[in-house]
This record gives sequence, structure tokens and C-alpha cells, in this order.
Amino acid sequence: MSQKIFAVGAGKGGVGKTFISSSLALTLAKMNHSVLIIDFDLAGANVHTNLGIEPHNSSIQSFLNNEAALVNLLQTTSLPRLSMVQGVWQEWEHSECSSDQGRRMIEEIRKLPFEYVIIDLGPGATPLNLEIFAQADEKILITNAEPTSVEKTYRFFEAWILNKISENSTPEAYLQLKNTVKEFRAQKKKGLFSFRKYLNINAGISFDHFDELLSQPLHLIVNGCRSHQDQDLGFGIKSVCNKYFDLQIDYLGHVDYDNAVWHSIINREPFLIAKPFTKLSAQFLSLAKSLIQSENHAIGYKDVV
Ligand SMILES: Nc1ncnc2c1ncn2[C@@H]1O[C@H](COP(=O)(O)OP(=O)(O)OP(=O)(O)O)[C@@H](O)[C@H]1O
Ligand SMILES: [Mg+2]
Repeated sequence: MSQKIFAVGAGKGGVGKTFISSSLALTLAKMNHSVLIIDFDLAGANVHTNLGIEPHNSSIQSFLNNEAALVNLLQTTSLPRLSMVQGVWQEWEHSECSSDQGRRMIEEIRKLPFEYVIIDLGPGATPLNLEIFAQADEKILITNAEPTSVEKTYRFFEAWILNKISENSTPEAYLQLKNTVKEFRAQKKKGLFSFRKYLNINAGISFDHFDELLSQPLHLIVNGCRSHQDQDLGFGIKSVCNKYFDLQIDYLGHVDYDNAVWHSIINREPFLIAKPFTKLSAQFLSLAKSLIQSENHAIGYKDVV
């Protein structure tokens, strides 16, 4: 059985990663797929709350402590075909997780019999989150329309590109690039740093990373939209990424703001179960369908001038 791993991250906290992860998991399960959702926000687990279930005693912490294999941490939920791995909710037990541990988790996931595995990440472009993004089959970035979120979304894109460049360049060339970005920021120049232009005029950094970045575009979802302007933000971000970073992203779609979301969380009933016939559930269906088909969406290599 082929399997797809979806990683869900964001530049900023509180933009709806967990709501989107849980709702996509529910939608895919409703579509008759076997789904696993892993709560991998190591600073505070929320998936169980969004799914309306009590936190389980065995959490991903046991895996991180080498006390349990991932397969032994699978929990069924009240929803058919949907399983979960409890996140770290005993925060006093919180331990650091290295990128190596992240890779080890992905290796164990690949052996599990699920069609779709959704990993709900904590906020920010941490080395661990970037590693999980790199390993996942589909990488999904969430933002909302607030300028603070949008700003951090761009920082995430930059970190993603820099991370990839660091793998493909000499340490000296990478340091030079990082210092140039810092100088650019210090001068408070208008606009974004053009990686494309920089790489074009500076030797020592290979262009190969663009090939890889283009073949696995990040998907963007704008959550909590209250207007058409909010919805269109995704197209604006896509165009900026293309123009300044030479990064092709896929604007997967938007999710509206709906007051009923927090009502459902307070009532401990997943939104899509409490409100199955709303605009939001149609939006999740469309997002899930696009994601499933997205293996055909890979953007071909385009010449970097
Ligand atoms: N589309 C929406 N409409 C209305 N409220 C929403 C929507 N999406 C998320 N929320 C609300 O925003 C809050 C934050 O959502 P969520 O916990 O999913 O964000 P997060 O990015 O996972 O946060 P964290 O960084 O803390 O993990 C939740 O309380 C939820 O009720
Ligand atoms: Mg969360």
C-alpha cells in the first residue's frame, strides 16, 4: 500500500495548524482512507482536544525517550479509520527532539499501514520542523491574513530555502549568503531579499537545490478568512515567493473564519462532526482532494537565469 505523509507547519503559532491537521485527517477518513494523525507539537499537544478525546497516557514522548516504538503508541479514535498518536501534554516531561529523531520517526511511520499520515507540527522554522518538512511527501504551510503571520510565513520560506542551500553549497559560500541577507535586513531595504539575484551574481553556490525545491512545492493554506481580500492573499504570497525567492509554491486554498470552530472545541466535538454540512466542510473536502492529487502537481524544472 502506498503511503503519503503530510507535514503541517506554520511560521507563527495560533494560526490554525492543529485545526487544519485534525480537519484534514477527519475529511480523509470520511473519504474512506485509513489515516493517522501524529501530534508533534512538542511544546503543547492539542490534537486530542480538536478531536474531542481525552489525552492518552502514552504519548510520543515515549518514542522520543526510546521507550516505545511508534507502532505501540497508536490509538484508535471514535472515528472509523482514524488513529492518532498522542502529543506531549505532560509539559514537565518535555525534552528536546533532534532532527535525527525526527528522521527516525519518519522511518517508523513508513512501516505503518496507513494511507495518509498527518503530522501536526509546532510553530516556526525550527531545524526539527524543517527536517520533517523535508522528509514529508507533502509540505503544508498555514497562515492567516494578519500581517504578523504573513511576515513569519515569509521568514519560514526564507529558512526553507536557506536550509536547502546550506545542503548544496560550501560552508564559506553559505556563510557569505547568510551575512548578505543579514546586511540586507540591517539596511532595512524595501522588499524581500532576492535569492535568485544573489545566487546569479555570486559563485560557489550550486543551483541544484532549486531543482529539488521546484519538484516538491510547498502548499499554502490561508486560514480564518473573513473576506475575499483575505482569500486572495494566498495568490499575493505565491507571486512574491516567485518574484523574490524564485520559489514556486502551490496555493492550495483557503478556510473561512467560522465562530462555530471554537464552539466545537469548547464542546469537545470535532467541527466537521458537529457541522458536517457547512461551507468549511466543503472547503476541507476540496483541500483534501487537491492534496491527494498533488503528486501530479509537481512543477517541472525551470531554468534559473
Ligand atoms: N477557521 C477558523 N475559524 C475560527 N476559529 C479558528 C479557525 N481556525 C482556528 N481557529 C481557532 O484558533 C485557535 C488556534 O487554532 P489552532 O490551535 O488550530 O492553532 P495552532 O496553529 O495549531 O496553534 P499552536 O501554534 O498553539 O499549536 C483555536 O482555538 C481555534 O478555535
Ligand atoms: Mg497546534
